Amino acid sequence: MGAEVVVEGLTKSFGKQAIWRDVTLTLPPGEVSAMLGPSGTGKSVFLKSMIGLLKPDRGRCVINGVDIVTCSEHKLYEIRKLFGVLFQDGALFGSMNLYDNVAFPLREHTKKSETEIRRIVQEKLEMTGLAGADKKLPGEISGGMRKRAGLARALVLDPQIILVDEPDSGLDPVRTAYISQLLIDLNTQIDATILIVSHNINLARTVPDNLGMLFRKELVMFGPREVLLTSDEPVVEQFLNGRKRGPIGMSEEKDTATMAREEAEAAAGHHDGSPDEDVRGVIPQMQPSPGLPERSGERRRKDRVMRILHTLPPAAQEGIIESLSPEDQQRYGVHPHMLVKSTPRPTPSPGPVPSQHQGQLPADQVAQFPGQQRPGQHRMRPADPGQGQG
Ligand SMILES: Nc1ncnc2c1ncn2[C@@H]1O[C@H](COP(=O)(O)OP(=O)(O)OP(=O)(O)O)[C@@H](O)[C@H]1O
Ligand SMILES: [Mg+2]
Repeated sequence: MGAEVVVEGLTKSFGKQAIWRDVTLTLPPGEVSAMLGPSGTGKSVFLKSMIGLLKPDRGRCVINGVDIVTCSEHKLYEIRKLFGVLFQDGALFGSMNLYDNVAFPLREHTKKSETEIRRIVQEKLEMTGLAGADKKLPGEISGGMRKRAGLARALVLDPQIILVDEPDSGLDPVRTAYISQLLIDLNTQIDATILIVSHNINLARTVPDNLGMLFRKELVMFGPREVLLTSDEPVVEQFLNGRKRGPIGMSEEKDTATMAREEAEAAAGHHDGSPDEDVRGVIPQMQPSPGLPERSGERRRKDRVMRILHTLPPAAQEGIIESLSPEDQQRYGVHPHMLVKSTPRPTPSPGPVPSQHQGQLPADQVAQFPGQQRPGQHRMRPADPGQGQG
């Protein structure tokens, strides 16, 4: 199974420019997570901090018991072998053809023979739709091909943790769908822990098990996908729906006067060209390709999420329960339109981040779970009338 990544209180600045502070989240092992956020909020910086390429000012990032923020260079080198990383710009060596680029980590980190290397490289090039392009230099291929070559290279060491920075940028919608499927299939086949950084709403809605968002130098939320997909946070609503109206502006943050003016203009009937449709809500998650086994990460996540169900906002609980099969609903003793425990709605941002949105698992708060009976266990009970809507 992929490694768990525990991030605690991570804070990063460049000189006087604060990027984000106190980021706390856990990437559950073998699950697929995605981080959203407007351009410039520090998603790529976060990704680079997770592999020790950038040094955070404070906080911890613990992988297999090693805190990569404070560990030795030697330890960091060892830990990095667990990672496969697709950087935002592909980060290919310009003077090497695609074959040598993809073979590079194998030649650098393993003692494999060239025959074995050829087999692995061809397999990854085929997987990413680049078979036949192995002799081309990065400068001779399209942006989307460079992206896919970067992904092929990220996969050659069978990584336990895969970090992909905007796998969809530069790709057409069809290739994006294939890359999304590839990530789900990879997770099924090698059970790696995956973190995707993306702006792609379709990908965010259908691919990851967990979703988070960075905004205003904070982690707005991180947790099961259903929490973000049903969130009423203005920033989440604006981002998912791709609207101009809301707290995100061209230079990331909008002042309150601008927001008030936009509200007034909208009320006066001005249409700013933003889509009217509200895409929030839980839609079915992408499944592994036919012929592949069940995704273990999905099964583990189901158990994990059901343990913390009662700590989640009512709309997220509903979304989770409704996405369970009738058999699973019976197994967990839940049914649609019931609530496990009334939980207050999250405080609108800016404000303290509710811990349940950060993927933290409160040990003493475990919902009814098959074969598990603990002292002080919360029993599931129907929702109070009037609750759970919204
Ligand atoms: N090495 C660096 N030195 C100084 N500042 C940096 C460095 N890397 C990033 N930054 C700054 O950190 C901020 C966040 O950058 P980052 O690339 O992480 O944004 P992002 O969320 O990935 O944006 P996008 O969605 O456009 O890729 C930016 O203001 C950027 O200028
Ligand atoms: Mg970026």
